Parts: sequence; C-alpha cells; structure tokens
Amino acid sequence: MQQHSQSSTLVVPTVHAVPQHIAVIMDGNGRWANARRLPRMVGHERGVAALRQVVEACMKQGVRYLSVFAFSSENWRRPEEEVSFLMGLFIKALEREVRELKENGVRLRVIGDLSAFNTKLRQAISRAEAATEMNDRFHLTVAANYGGRWDILQATRKMLDQHPELAVSGVPIPEELLTPHLSMNFAPEPDLFIRTGGEERISNFLLWQLAYTEFYFTECFWPEFDESQLELAIQSYQRRERRFGRTPAQVAQECSYPAS
Ligand code: IPE
Ligand code: IPE
Ligand code: MG
Repeated sequence: MQQHSQSSTLVVPTVHAVPQHIAVIMDGNGRWANARRLPRMVGHERGVAALRQVVEACMKQGVRYLSVFAFSSENWRRPEEEVSFLMGLFIKALEREVRELKENGVRLRVIGDLSAFNTKLRQAISRAEAATEMNDRFHLTVAANYGGRWDILQATRKMLDQHPELAVSGVPIPEELLTPHLSMNFAPEPDLFIRTGGEERISNFLLWQLAYTEFYFTECFWPEFDESQLELAIQSYQRRERRFGRTPAQVAQECSYPAS
C-alpha cells in the first residue's frame, strides 16, 4: 500500500516543492471574537468561513490533502452551551457545503470517535462522506472528537484483533501492521503542520503522523487566516531542509541528481 512505502521512518519520503498534505490546528476563534467584543460563537462562525477560503487556496496551490482539527477529545471540557453550539454549527456547515465540495472534486472525511455524537450529526457526516466518496482531486479531512492518543490506541486494538500472535511477549510489532488501522491511513504523512492563534503545541492532534512534519506557528487568529497567510506558511516550508535523519551533505547530493 502507498502509505507504507511513504512512512517517514521506513523510507525517506519524496519531498515536493508544494506540501502535499497540510494539517492545521484552527485555533484562536474565541480570542478573535473577544478582541472585537463579540461572543465566542461569532468567532466559530467566522472560522467556518476561513476554512472554506483555505480549502480553495490549497487547491489553487496544488496541495492534495488538508486535515483540520475541528474538535478535540478534550474540547468536551468546554461549557455545555459552547459544545452544543459547535455541534450545531458542524451540522449546518456540512449540509450547506456538501454540494459544492462534491462538484469541486473534494472528498470529505471526518475522523475521530464519532460514537459520541448525536444521531443527527452522525447522519449528516455519513451523508456528506457518501456524497463525495467518488472524488479524488482534493481530500479534506475534519478531525472531530479526535485525539492522537485515542487514534493510536484504537489502531492497536484493531491490529491485535487481526494479529493475536503479536500480543505474545517479545514478538516485535512492525509499524506497517499498525498504520493501516490509523484514521489517516488513506493519506501520506503531513508535510506541513500549521497552528494559528499563537500557541505552540500539538494539543493531542496527529501524534503518530507528525513524526517528520515541518511545524509552522503563527499569531494570526484562525478567522483571519486566508490565502496570503497560507502562502506565508508554504514559503516558510519551502525554506526548510527536510533531512529525515541524514546529514545536510547527503541531502544536497540527492538534490543534485537530475530529475529522471
Ligand atoms: C478553535 O478556537 C476552535 C475550537 C477549538 C473548536 P478556540 O475556540 O480554541 O479559540 P481560542 O483559543 O479560545 O481563542
Ligand atoms: C485545539 O485547540 C483543538 C482544536 C483547534 C479543535 P484548543 O484551543 O482546544 O487547544 P488548547 O486547549 O489551547 O491546547
Ligand atoms: Mg483554543
């Protein structure tokens, strides 16, 4: 499977000038709203609008996968009225956007423990996923009730169910038996991770997949993140040297080979 051959720890992955997969923690909706004396909820609404623009900008730039953190497994700790507002907003956004996503060749997936959501939301998710499942031009993945630790544990469970012999003490576990069970098994590992809103942490997003991802942090609050902000992030990415454990001289030598 493609995913195995591109594991950053098993092989040196192909690096493209434009990141093929961008993962984003869309943070700062509440602070954006507070700074304008608006309710936090307005910030979340503007956050959906920003996501729409960023999807378009990514497609224009030649990015193939965009994975965004919409609701973490820890966000249930927020006040109940904010949680239920976010659930309602999620349903509305799915229903409003699905047609356009479908027409524009976008495949939408939602990853996370969806069993915690109400029936209406789960149905909206299934409908949107089914409506876009034939698309392959661009892959938009929304992480909802997602946690990186949850993902690794649920994948481990599935792997052991399939390979009970691996539970025996001392038997080595090859990573390629685990990765097909991770929620992002359909995508290459992210090339670029962006977090808006000024915090510099992963907050339990894609723990496994970020092993060799380039990180980009910006003070910009998510509702203000637009095409020009995305370009800044991609430009920063293009100045990085991705070594994957090798020396700079080795990387330079590899780059000097003519493209065949
Ligand atoms: C990110 O913005 C959106 C979600 C977590 C749902 P926040 O709501 O975390 O905004 P801040 O960080 O409080 O500004
Ligand atoms: C991370 O943001 C989750 C999402 C953007 C969905 P948080 O705002 O919840 O993260 P912390 O609590 O500041 O780490
Ligand atoms: Mg936040």
